[in-house]
Amino acid sequence: MARQNTGTFYGRVKKKAHPFEKDPTQEMLEKGWIKRGASRGQWIHGPQSTKLFRTFEKIVLEELLEPLGYQEMIFPKLVPWDVWQKSGHAKGVYPEIYYVCPPKTRDPEYWEEVADHYKVTKEVPIELIKEKIGDPIGGLCYAQCPPFWMYLQGETIPTDSFPLKVFDRSGTSHRYESGGIHGMERVDEFHRIEIVWLGTKEQVVKASEELHERYMHIFNEILDIEWRKAWVTPWFMAQEGLAGVSDEQSAGTTDYEAPLPYRGEDGEWLEFQNVSVNGDKYPSGFNVKSQSGEELWSGCSGVGLERWTSAFLAQKGLDPENWPVEFRKRFGEMPEGIRFF
Ligand code: SER
Ligand code: ZN
Repeated sequence: MARQNTGTFYGRVKKKAHPFEKDPTQEMLEKGWIKRGASRGQWIHGPQSTKLFRTFEKIVLEELLEPLGYQEMIFPKLVPWDVWQKSGHAKGVYPEIYYVCPPKTRDPEYWEEVADHYKVTKEVPIELIKEKIGDPIGGLCYAQCPPFWMYLQGETIPTDSFPLKVFDRSGTSHRYESGGIHGMERVDEFHRIEIVWLGTKEQVVKASEELHERYMHIFNEILDIEWRKAWVTPWFMAQEGLAGVSDEQSAGTTDYEAPLPYRGEDGEWLEFQNVSVNGDKYPSGFNVKSQSGEELWSGCSGVGLERWTSAFLAQKGLDPENWPVEFRKRFGEMPEGIRFF
């Protein structure tokens, strides 16, 4: 769900001119970097755009996660109701979930009818399948951090472990987006590095400031893009269907937004990155305690690779000749890609 922009912008780097003014999705399609996937709001990334994603990941690893001491984990990607009850998503995420239903049984005989129907008609018998699957047990990964919290649920953590810093980049996130044709900037299936940290209020706020420093360094010195920061409705409130800002002082979400030159001077800016201090919501929702008895806070930050691609290419174009030197150094050679007649 879109986060309400409070109109409070702070921190901004302005660029004088954007030489490139085309829609990068169209350009990527024309150059064969991407094709539409068979499912709604889904793309197949060719070698060129995959290398772009991997380069963004490498930059985030080398310039941010490693120096700041974040450890990699693998978070589950199928999220049962139990998790969303504790995270608050169960209050309002329903219109955007990709629901998951398991089979009522895995007995091949029970499914024979379905397979036979397909073999004869070459049509998948949806109505018959509906009868044979169970109730939805949850949905596909949506916000990425909630299922991580089951790892800490009910635990007491030694005081000297804080701030605890982890990240996950092990799979896709899925949102049932608004209809109509969108480009790379609005997709139903996307790729994100999700960063999570936990500690006392002071530790959590400090960790968020360190992330901001590193992100700004990346956006200014490596990607060389125009951006601004906006104080917006906290992501967890937006996903519960709430508006406004957090009532907790110093807790909330900052979005990084970039202008997309092809949308024109007054065009809507794109949120391509967020950093959030989530207050005590997660430690208290999942009953996580500190040995010291002090209140625990947490934060999270999502690096959306499709969004970074949209912002970067919209401002810089697809020709590596026009990309900033620091980025090109890390990208290396453009892969040849796959050709068609
Ligand atoms: N979990 C946060 C969100 O969904 C950050 O990625 O916005
Ligand atoms: Zn998160």
